Amino acid sequence: MCGIVGYLGHRQAYNILISGLHRLEYRGYDSAGVAVVNDDGSLEVCKAKGKVSNLEQAAAGVNLTGHLGIAHTRWATHGEPNNINAHPHLSQDGTLALVHNGTIENYAVIKQMLLDNGVEFTSETDTEVLVQFIAYIRNENGCTLFEAVTSALRQVEGAFAIGLIEVNNPDTLIVARKASPLVIGLGDGETFIASDATPIVGYTDKVIYLKDNEIALIKRDEELQILDLTDFHKSDIDIQEIKLSLAQLEKGGYDTFMLKEIFEQPTTLRDCLRGRIVEESSRIKLSGVELNRDVFAKCKRIVLVACGTSWHAALIGKRLLQDFCNLPVEVEYASEFRYSNPYLTPDDVVIAISQSGETADTLAAIQLARQKGAFVYGVCNVVGASIPRNTDSGTYIHVGPEIGVASTKAFTGQVTVLTLLALAVGQLRGTVSPDTVKEIADGLSSLPETIEEVLKLSPRIKELSNIFTYARNFLYLGRGYNYPTALEGALKLKEISYIHAEGYPAAEMKHGPIALIDQEMPSVIIAPSDSLYDKVISNVQQVKSRGGHVLAIVSKGNTSMDNIADYCLDIPEVHECLTPIVASIPLQLLAYYIAINKGKNVDMPRNLAKSVTVE
Ligand code: M6R
Repeated sequence: MCGIVGYLGHRQAYNILISGLHRLEYRGYDSAGVAVVNDDGSLEVCKAKGKVSNLEQAAAGVNLTGHLGIAHTRWATHGEPNNINAHPHLSQDGTLALVHNGTIENYAVIKQMLLDNGVEFTSETDTEVLVQFIAYIRNENGCTLFEAVTSALRQVEGAFAIGLIEVNNPDTLIVARKASPLVIGLGDGETFIASDATPIVGYTDKVIYLKDNEIALIKRDEELQILDLTDFHKSDIDIQEIKLSLAQLEKGGYDTFMLKEIFEQPTTLRDCLRGRIVEESSRIKLSGVELNRDVFAKCKRIVLVACGTSWHAALIGKRLLQDFCNLPVEVEYASEFRYSNPYLTPDDVVIAISQSGETADTLAAIQLARQKGAFVYGVCNVVGASIPRNTDSGTYIHVGPEIGVASTKAFTGQVTVLTLLALAVGQLRGTVSPDTVKEIADGLSSLPETIEEVLKLSPRIKELSNIFTYARNFLYLGRGYNYPTALEGALKLKEISYIHAEGYPAAEMKHGPIALIDQEMPSVIIAPSDSLYDKVISNVQQVKSRGGHVLAIVSKGNTSMDNIADYCLDIPEVHECLTPIVASIPLQLLAYYIAINKGKNVDMPRNLAKSVTVE
């Protein structure tokens, strides 16, 4: 979703801003722009619809030579993606330039007040309303720019992360945030701002994650000031070290980030598991559980909240927690949960799952759960993101930066952590036997090698993708642990190939979707040799007898599907609860190759954003 970059220092701002925008491209956007306070004292703005490369072309003949600037990638919310609605936005007198992530909910009221007072607007955005509002307050009250910004931000409702610069003031950059992330990077005589740490990597490893309702005044050669917007008290400055490397942000020889991330999974799962299975696989050690033994020992119910792929991981987590912890478990879409007046008590544990750690709906669900007294546990990938900072405790999945918009390695990392979590809590509550822990822990420890084996299917899946690229609709079917795997396989295909795909519990198919089946609509069946395998076989026969084509994911050595399905992909046999991790790999590859055959941009699919910071 929208991305902010800013720079104040001794280098040419434009170069840093453009390289930062490129690094933020993975978040998803539809236009981009840059504003620089030039060395001659002018404020120059350049914007372009489409990619950052379009912006670079547009900026080719423009004077953008200065050491202070802000830049933005916009994912349209108010007004279509075009040059006018792209950020930065200027105040009417041209003195202020603003970039903004988030949405100002009361923008219409403020805009009307400004229109009544003679202010004219050029764009349809809430961001222009904010910058005009700041300029209006400054002119009306004769106050400083910093005072005008704080006053405006105290009056707006909604979410924001902003970066603001002023003409004739090459020494000041103002940033603030509420419910939308913003990171400040501290270099030697230079300061960087960004929506996440990726644009800052390589320049400095010292960062400050601005907290909710904080505003920072960044001045050249002066100490950084951070204030709380609600009561203006000085905030403590908490400098943290980022551990990302440039290599982690590059494609490493693969054509796309998505393919790199699919093939990285043996390594990322090894990283995810490191130090968490101890004493010869007989014990699971998660510090988030060990530090909160009482909470997990006494809790009476678990509610999992998440969105998208993370919600599919949550569905698998439900099965795991039910099986190993003997607790009632519910799964909610964060966006529904936050508005559903959920029944929660201090005996409940809410587990929030999010790759980015910035998903607005999941953050709001966390806030609600905490208000209601529940203990909130986060399962997150991005270290230092808003979700881990707003939960009571949690576990990082540690799979490294996921740049491809379609989540792959984060999904398998999430399911791996949920498996560890269910075993750790079950161990603590005495609801899982040591033998079961050992058996599953052994399976988890072997996952990197198991997945290396599955990845060898890639050439075969590529071949099969040629057969299936024609399809306009797909059905993905699975049961038990693999019903969510079917949902996830269908989502992957939809997201990157734009082919309509539905995931369904295999047995539910006969209650409706069976009407869709014909020779034109292939079904992908997830059918490892588990407790429901025989049931799935009869569901496959129902598809076949209606002329449908079937691609089945089956366990190696089980040949009974060979004469029923049209094509089979053999995956190694693992414990039933680990089958979603293993079976999701061929589904990721299938979606990938079909999308590539169709010439789609798999890393940045249309309309999608990596970090969904609006509700
Ligand atoms: O960062 P999160 O895990 O909270 O994101 C949730 C969804 O937006 C995300 O999983 C989305 O569905 C992805 N595009 C899936 O590939």
